[in-house]
Amino acid sequence: MDAELLLAHVLGVPRSRLLTLDDVPEAEAGRFDALIDQRADRVPLQHLTGRAAFRYLELAVGPGVFVPRPETEQLAGWVLEQLRGIPAPVVVDLGAGSGALALSVAHEHAGARVTAVERDPGAIEWTRHNAAARIAAGDGPVAVIAGDMTDPALLGELNGRVDLVVSNPPYVPDGARVPREVADHDPPMALWGGPDGLDVVRGLLGTAARLLRPGGWLGIEHADQQGSALPALVRAHGAFTDVQDHPDLAGRPRFTTARRVPVPGGAED
Ligand SMILES: C[S@@+](CC[C@H](N)C(=O)[O-])C[C@H]1O[C@@H](n2cnc3c(N)ncnc32)[C@H](O)[C@@H]1O
Repeated sequence: MDAELLLAHVLGVPRSRLLTLDDVPEAEAGRFDALIDQRADRVPLQHLTGRAAFRYLELAVGPGVFVPRPETEQLAGWVLEQLRGIPAPVVVDLGAGSGALALSVAHEHAGARVTAVERDPGAIEWTRHNAAARIAAGDGPVAVIAGDMTDPALLGELNGRVDLVVSNPPYVPDGARVPREVADHDPPMALWGGPDGLDVVRGLLGTAARLLRPGGWLGIEHADQQGSALPALVRAHGAFTDVQDHPDLAGRPRFTTARRVPVPGGAED
């Protein structure tokens, strides 16, 4: 599959067209060989093509940014379901990377007012690049903010006004074994989450609780081993209710959702 996608990339044709090819010109064959060598050396396919597909978007990716994963598409789908019927929802994506979540929300919900937060100075260049490309393609603007999702002063102007906070934070426990594509090519800040992988999540819960309006939604992706630990952490925080965990398409625990505790008797109750 990867070989076919690389050949299609080199020739500038869709993969389905490969079946009808009689020949590969020499220059392209040389480029293809070089890419195959790099892939065999565990450079991620998406770094070699420079593109990653995510839901309806094709995002630019490369060294310095986390390659968006198919599992996260389901979290994006859940976000869009919650926003259905809200004409101009305020949405915050904490740890935006390539912008996969934030830009999908802007693409699929025309009225959404989306803010993408990213701490890594290398990664945020990719967030900005992809956000600009989506605006040029006609999507609504996404505000890209350099900041730390655990900072108690982050986005203070949005306190209590956000309809939905979503995050695919770094959640790999320190020292865990990961494939070379991940260890050598995804940025460390995108991966490592402390001894149990949940250090950044602990910080982001306070930020989400502060930003969300009563009844507002929170969605956080996690590792498949964190399907009990993360919901427990969210419940223990105290600011959230309706805590639920959701499996991915392979049936593995993948993301936790919750609602900001509503004000008793309030409109969101
Ligand atoms: C697993 S990646 C997810 C990227 C993207 N949202 C996606 O789903 O593909 C986590 C992202 O969070 C960023 N990040 C890590 N710690 C952060 C923090 N404290 N504040 C803001 N961003 C952070 C990383 O740099 C990385 O881009």
